[in-house]
Amino acid sequence: MNLGLERDIIIEAQGIRKVFRSGSEELEVLRQVDLEVGRGELLAIMGVSGVGKSTLLHILGTLDRPTAGQLSIAGVDVFGLSDDDLARFRNRHIGFVFQFHHLLPEFTALENVMLPALVAAEPEECIREEAAALLHSVGLGKRLYHRPGELSGGERQRVAVVRALIRKPLVVLADEPSGNLDVASSQNLHELIRELSRAHSQAFVVMTHDRVLAESMDRLGHLEWGALRMESLSRGNGNQS
Ligand SMILES: Nc1ncnc2c1ncn2[C@@H]1O[C@H](COP(=O)(O)OP(=O)(O)O)[C@@H](O)[C@H]1O
Ligand SMILES: [Mg+2]
Repeated sequence: MNLGLERDIIIEAQGIRKVFRSGSEELEVLRQVDLEVGRGELLAIMGVSGVGKSTLLHILGTLDRPTAGQLSIAGVDVFGLSDDDLARFRNRHIGFVFQFHHLLPEFTALENVMLPALVAAEPEECIREEAAALLHSVGLGKRLYHRPGELSGGERQRVAVVRALIRKPLVVLADEPSGNLDVASSQNLHELIRELSRAHSQAFVVMTHDRVLAESMDRLGHLEWGALRMESLSRGNGNQS
């Protein structure tokens, strides 16, 4: 499959609408979301609880299909793919970080980070080295063989972030990644996200209700009434609008 990597826009969503139906009730959560994210760009999306942040993240991550609208990732019309091709595309190009880290309790930090690459049948020795290097890079070099239960909340979240990066996805989607952390740990996490995105040219979309995290990203959008309103951050950002 050819990726449209000559373009610098990695995610392009147009007219995303999502309606949930239960019985005769219809709930229109997303009305009209339009969005572009560039390569290596950090976009924060803020919004109150229940406004549709997770719904949008699941759609951008191709875990759920919209009721209407288009989504292209790296130039690929993802919802035009078969379910199998879509699963392969997602596994290869999209990383996820959730609020609750979803680490597997019986595996070590190292094994948890290795897992997505092992599932993709990459050679184990390379993966082990890569996973250890990533954990070192986030200050967890002495925690490789700790299980999640032996790590602090902030450490677990850092493991979850590097696990999302092991396959070098073009896009990392994070759903309230600091929602569970104390102030110091969440600031470390923000710094980490910025460094990793710079180092690997990965685009991050971070759903958050944390204003400090949101303002540390390149661009900030507000999800309101089913649509996205961009706020211009008052600092020099080159060509960012
Ligand atoms: N699978 C679903 N079926 C029906 N309603 C849903 C479903 N998922 C989410 N919702 C509703 O959509 C709205 C937005 O939810 P969500 O995206 O989780 O909000 P947020 O992440 O911003 O808190 C909520 O009112 C929620 O109840
Ligand atoms: Mg949510």
